[in-house]
Amino acid sequence: MKGIILAGGAGTRLHPVTLAVSKQLLPVYDKPMIYYPLSVLMLADVRDILIISTAEDQPLFQRLLGDGSELGLRLSYAVQHEPNGLPEAFVIGADFIGDDSVALILGDNIFYGPGMSDCLRDSRRDLDGCVLFGYHVSDPERYGVGEVDARGRLISIEEKPVRPRTDRAITGLYFFDNHVVDIAKNLVPSARGELEITDVIRHYQRDGKANVVDLGRGFAWLDTGTHDSLMDAGQYVQVLERRQGVRIACIEEIALRRGFINAEACYRRGSRLTKSGYGEYVMDTARKHMETRLTSPVDTSSEKLREMVGLR
Ligand code: DAU
Repeated sequence: MKGIILAGGAGTRLHPVTLAVSKQLLPVYDKPMIYYPLSVLMLADVRDILIISTAEDQPLFQRLLGDGSELGLRLSYAVQHEPNGLPEAFVIGADFIGDDSVALILGDNIFYGPGMSDCLRDSRRDLDGCVLFGYHVSDPERYGVGEVDARGRLISIEEKPVRPRTDRAITGLYFFDNHVVDIAKNLVPSARGELEITDVIRHYQRDGKANVVDLGRGFAWLDTGTHDSLMDAGQYVQVLERRQGVRIACIEEIALRRGFINAEACYRRGSRLTKSGYGEYVMDTARKHMETRLTSPVDTSSEKLREMVGLR
């Protein structure tokens, strides 16, 4: 499965903050916003990822994330010249997707919750058509809204309906099989003048191939669309991180835990950010990982590792 992070758009609802910098590069507490959707793809074991942004912002994303090799990823970049709608991601990314399936995540969507990785990997494994992720909200009229049958099949979907039929928002994370590329290429703009993701999904729904996985009450799907919701998201992350001493969406930690990189590579990344608590956390994560290895019965220790964690 390939991954696409759509990180374009003008960010008009956050002006003047986004006049000079992309919304998806703004901080959500201690890290740039794009770390959050990137970490979701990594948890789904998606390592080949295309980042789509505006032409002006592309160099900034590249400066931040490079080619991804330090994280055991393959990152590539493409430009969306105008915000013509979410499905344009599949047209821009057609060659990148090739004949594979694809996960699309919006660069401003933040997910956090127990069992997230298992949920993502199960959905990916059973992919037949598309998988959407539903979330109950108090203001469904702001989102794509889905109606679902008892087996989790999508019955209807509407974009920002004035009178929503349910309170289930369809979040900005979508798994599609390869048909999505042809569907997107043949799509016509809606009355709003944009290509709509809900129109893509309707193709699958008509074939009975749009499945919805509801993210339960323990999950957080956070909004970053306005100044207030962006601030709330940052505070949510801050509260959890300070209380538990863990970091949410720490891409180095995820890369290490998923086996994309080894502890030495993780440690090196952290050591370049020592002045921030983030760097300390990454180094500490690597250190703990090495200690477990060095004290395990199948000890494959190297002198270099021992030195790093202070065992000699
Ligand atoms: O967040 C989930 C919602 O995202 C879904 O429930 C809706 O069905 C879906 O249409 C979308 O709604 P939004 O109102 O959030 O869409 P918006 O136009 O604000 O775009 C979402 C993000 O994608 C935003 O950060 C900008 C980026 N974007 C958007 C468009 C239209 C692009 O990069 N390119 C685009 O062409």
